[in-house]
Amino acid sequence: MDKISILGGKTLEGTITISGSKNAALPILVSSLLTREISNLDNVPNLLDITTMKELLISLGIKIVAKEKSLFIEPSNNISTHADYELVRKMRASVLVLGPLLARFGEAEVSLPGGCAIGSRPVDIHINALKKMGAKLEIKDGYIKASVPNKKLVGADITFPKVSVGATENIIMAACLAKGKTIIRNAALEPEIDDLITVLNKMGANVYRLDSNKIEVEGVISLKGFSHSVMPDRIEAGTYAMAAVITAGRIELLKAEEKYLKNVIKYLNRVGAKIESTNNGINIEGPKVINNIDMKTEVYPGFPTDLQAQAMALMSVAEGSSVIEESIFENRFMHIAELVRFGANIKNKGVKAHIVGCKVLNGAQVMATDLRASSSLILAGLRAEGETIINRVYHLDRGYENLEKKLSMCGANIRRI
Ligand code: UD1
Repeated sequence: MDKISILGGKTLEGTITISGSKNAALPILVSSLLTREISNLDNVPNLLDITTMKELLISLGIKIVAKEKSLFIEPSNNISTHADYELVRKMRASVLVLGPLLARFGEAEVSLPGGCAIGSRPVDIHINALKKMGAKLEIKDGYIKASVPNKKLVGADITFPKVSVGATENIIMAACLAKGKTIIRNAALEPEIDDLITVLNKMGANVYRLDSNKIEVEGVISLKGFSHSVMPDRIEAGTYAMAAVITAGRIELLKAEEKYLKNVIKYLNRVGAKIESTNNGINIEGPKVINNIDMKTEVYPGFPTDLQAQAMALMSVAEGSSVIEESIFENRFMHIAELVRFGANIKNKGVKAHIVGCKVLNGAQVMATDLRASSSLILAGLRAEGETIINRVYHLDRGYENLEKKLSMCGANIRRI
């Protein structure tokens, strides 16, 4: 199995081009289930999660041809409505096929995605919203078995009990082909959802974001194909910004978009970084001394949970003590035990981590436990004295395109072994 070796202590300087967003590309790929026509998606990152989604869509009868960063997506006349356990279990976002299959074919059998390292991650919000739209759903043999009387979902007024990115995407897609109007209240605000909305409207849908967290969808009979370029990945940008901070380096992040990183930039400014937006992206310069700052993850536009582990790597070498609170997932502190192996001083009490900054981290053998936890180990390894070996790097391959290459080009001593 691949490992990553880092010889830490190098100050990173250079330019990194930010790839297309994984979390935008995944639902957009799924939206191809809503049409009979050919679509074209550009700026698609080459990642394991994207491969998993392509495999799932191919298993349902969609033909996908890749040419560099572009995907040509061609639906067949014979789409299966059965999303199998073997593919769905690999990635939670697979449950996004439920709404579109149900909306277009009136039936779907989708494996339950199951739990994952960062929490139980239920799908009750998706299921209850589809029930409100007239679907009959039952959980049997590990599958969500769903059908709609008369094969047509009906628009409904839905209030989510909790903000959910996936449920917002699933229900928007389902509502596009439902009869009448759907209103989603307490919808998630993530910009990746707006990239999906742009695509759906290009396909002929009527999706409007009103009062920011209220979305209205007026159903249509059928949708066309689309051509679209995926937005840049704000989580990848935030991670490399923190790589500049933790190595007291200077990195230009081409294609990074300030407007989607406002609270991350605010946090990094308080930590001591100098950040400047340009026409091409964002320039970031790390401070000599990292300030200790308390932080809490929140739904967008708050500080993203997907950058919490990386922020903890920064705080482990900050000037004093800090507290990081995780408010989205109940068990997203798996990286603490691994950061401690570098010599970090971190204690976990419930949803809070108490961190006492230390002067030096030492290279260590560590294990990636989930996608974003892995990138916090990369950051710690870049800062640490001596060699760090990171095991189970497939987690990184799920969400970071060409990670070693991008960091090497900024002077990091990093290689895959
Ligand atoms: C998406 C992102 C993920 C990010 C997360 C939160 C993708 C592919 N993934 O995941 O990177 O970390 O948003 O920003 O875009 N919940 C329920 N019931 C449900 C659905 C969710 O209780 O039916 C809970 C979850 O357990 C979690 C919270 O709601 O505690 C937010 O989850 P959600 O926004 O749905 O996350 P994902 O869409 O899975």
